[in-house]
Amino acid sequence: MAKKLKIGLIGAGGIARAAHLPGYASIPDLCEVVAICDVQEETAKTLAQEFGIGKVVTDYKAIIADPEIDAISVTTPNAFHMQPTIDALKAGKHVLCEKPLGMNAAECRKMCRAAKDAGKILQVGLQLRFGGIARFMRSYIDAGHMGSIYYSRAQALRRRGVPGWGVFIDKKKQGGGPLIDIGVHILDITLFLMDYPKPMTASGKTWDQLGKNPDLFNAWGNYDRARFTVEDSAVGMIKFEDGAVVLLESSFMGNLEDGPLQTQLFGTKSGAIVKLSGEEPIKIYTEQDQQIFDMIPRNIPKVEAPHVDEVKAFVDAILNDKPSPVPGEQGLTLNAIFDAIYKSSETGKEEKVDVSF
Ligand SMILES: NC(=O)c1ccc[n+]([C@@H]2O[C@H](COP(=O)([O-])OP(=O)(O)OC[C@H]3O[C@@H](n4cnc5c(N)ncnc54)[C@H](O)[C@@H]3O)[C@@H](O)[C@H]2O)c1
Repeated sequence: MAKKLKIGLIGAGGIARAAHLPGYASIPDLCEVVAICDVQEETAKTLAQEFGIGKVVTDYKAIIADPEIDAISVTTPNAFHMQPTIDALKAGKHVLCEKPLGMNAAECRKMCRAAKDAGKILQVGLQLRFGGIARFMRSYIDAGHMGSIYYSRAQALRRRGVPGWGVFIDKKKQGGGPLIDIGVHILDITLFLMDYPKPMTASGKTWDQLGKNPDLFNAWGNYDRARFTVEDSAVGMIKFEDGAVVLLESSFMGNLEDGPLQTQLFGTKSGAIVKLSGEEPIKIYTEQDQQIFDMIPRNIPKVEAPHVDEVKAFVDAILNDKPSPVPGEQGLTLNAIFDAIYKSSETGKEEKVDVSF
């Protein structure tokens, strides 16, 4: 049997425990996490014990410098994605980096360039693509049943869902609020189903009227309102080179129904409402022989944990010399769109989206 891949992990927090480490642990014949890093030593030690990881460090450079390590997961807050990723790629290691790829497009550009120069895999942690819902829709679209998708409405809307832990309310450490944190997931799924058209311009608006208000209830834990420096809601309209348009809405707090994480796709042959969870997540609107039909698929593939499949795809791509399952360039596209929406909110104008690197 070929040698097992040796993995290092940087950032021993929630997503490391819930997603990356269980993912690697699910394929013990193919890989082994040999080192874990966190600036908080106790945090790293706890996870090391839980997952049987031999080496604990507090400086990520020790992981980069370890010649035994083939690939790393970067699971730090957004402000600490870029440097470990670039350093690892330059050291010849493959990288699975959590979403969003960077704080902004400028960071993503450097990361994509580093991956290209090194000839190593840079994968973005956008796990929803690996779920059964996305797989079903992708195969339905590939079979030509939707025709050409020319317009989509993507929504990631929480009613009272400001993350009360970590640094999700700190613009300096995250780059933004719900747009970059959860909007990234629904925009990715939407563009994935539209074959990632090239964005040209975006306009939008962000607000921070609810998140700072100490009188409002929050369902996702308490947080210091004075430290809330991100937007609580954002809306953007993105125009693409092929004429398609996407409308994106995202909120941590808003006075409406909680929870839509969904995209609505308008195709020339059919349309679809795609919810990323719940009963009957897909509804297809189509026409045959001048009769219109609403269809509910009953054979959506069951995927226990998209996160685990994401990690498996990373390992498989490395071992079998395949391209990145979620290329860094697509992470750059998402960040470049967010940059344009944030800028447009300030200037009041439609802004260019630059995906070059
Ligand atoms: N794919 C998803 O659905 C999903 C879900 C949650 C979070 N995330 C992403 O994962 C990342 C981390 O989120 P989280 O919820 O795990 O946060 P977290 O706060 O639980 O964990 C982050 C960990 O990184 C450590 N850290 C910070 N700076 C570091 C550095 N320079 N070197 C080493 N360790 C450092 C912190 O001490 C902390 O333990 C974010 O980018 C977030 O957007 C993705």
